[in-house]
Amino acid sequence: PITAHLESIRPYIDLIDTLRSAGIHKDLALPTIIVIGDQSSGKSSVLEALSGVPLPRGSGIVTRCPLELRLKKVNVGVNWKAVLSYSNNKIEFVDSSLLENHVHAAQNELAGKGVGIRDDLITLEIMSPDVCDLTLIDLPGIARVPVNGQPQDIGNQIKRLIRKYIEKQETINMVVCPCNTDIATTEALKIAQEVDPDGKRTIAILTKPDLIDRGTETRILDIVHNKVIPLRKGYIMVKCRGQQQIDDNISLEEAAQMESDFFRTHEHFRKSVVDQILCVCVCCQKSLPQLNEQIKKKLWDLKNELKECEAGPPQDPKGFHVTIQFLSPQTLTRFNEEIKSLSLGEQI
Ligand code: GDP
Ligand code: NA
Ligand code: MG
Repeated sequence: PITAHLESIRPYIDLIDTLRSAGIHKDLALPTIIVIGDQSSGKSSVLEALSGVPLPRGSGIVTRCPLELRLKKVNVGVNWKAVLSYSNNKIEFVDSSLLENHVHAAQNELAGKGVGIRDDLITLEIMSPDVCDLTLIDLPGIARVPVNGQPQDIGNQIKRLIRKYIEKQETINMVVCPCNTDIATTEALKIAQEVDPDGKRTIAILTKPDLIDRGTETRILDIVHNKVIPLRKGYIMVKCRGQQQIDDNISLEEAAQMESDFFRTHEHFRKSVVDQILCVCVCCQKSLPQLNEQIKKKLWDLKNELKECEAGPPQDPKGFHVTIQFLSPQTLTRFNEEIKSLSLGEQI
């Protein structure tokens, strides 16, 4: 069902990716879903469930560099193909079981072996008939206490990194909080509220509903029903694979079935949680196709303008790409302003 809902965003995602591959992200902030939260809150697990791509996850600091996951649904020619890019490296592979090792190697190269973090982005593009079109970024989790080998200020380093990514107006921020912790004190939620005080682009994801203490269900339900810390986009509860299920080689598909059974049969949750993950898709869907059309029109206008005031960009089969590189800084700034004004307001 997620795939069906996301199908309509495809042209938009393509456009964004074209802009990214033209290097525009250095000048513009492009819309992306960003996952933030405490260490081990379940960020990578949520990303896995949304994307269908098994990601490195576990206890401690696993994600040590921002990981951008660009999913592309392709219907012909490819079963599964990944391209991992970081600094000057580009690695292609078709065996998904290699993914974890490649990501680890990239992180070791960028952030050094051990437990340090770095701001440098690792991009993982995945093409498959089984994914939906979506771009997401997994960020290092907030560490409360430094572990051996980590600098004293690691917590602040991570918060700085998170702020840098989510303060851009074009991000949709998914804040991951485990149900078995005190959501009111979640650092990531505070940071998200700082950069998005109106809550226009903040969604909270409640994880590990299977681990809550008996007797606290009512309080969790109050949170889900937006009665405790009201968020405009509200809360979504998800159950992902626990460590035992991973050790038992439970597939993502099986886990999704188990999740649905869990909510369907849960004494307290069965009434209120119905396929809530779709809220995320609806949230994207509402804003994005419209945005897509408007951006396309702006680009078209800008291209025409360029034709008038310059000799015109050289002919190239990937004409769009070339045109982008010929845009002047002034034009880019204006384009940036326009994208900002489009993605602000009530749309997202
Ligand atoms: P991250 O550090 O925020 O990326 O968290 P991970 O996704 O790596 O998850 C941390 C641990 O929590 C892993 O062992 C997961 O298997 C486990 N976990 C994640 N979601 C759930 C859940 O819904 N239920 C249970 N029981 N465990 C979960
Ligand atoms: Na982790
Ligand atoms: Mg992680």
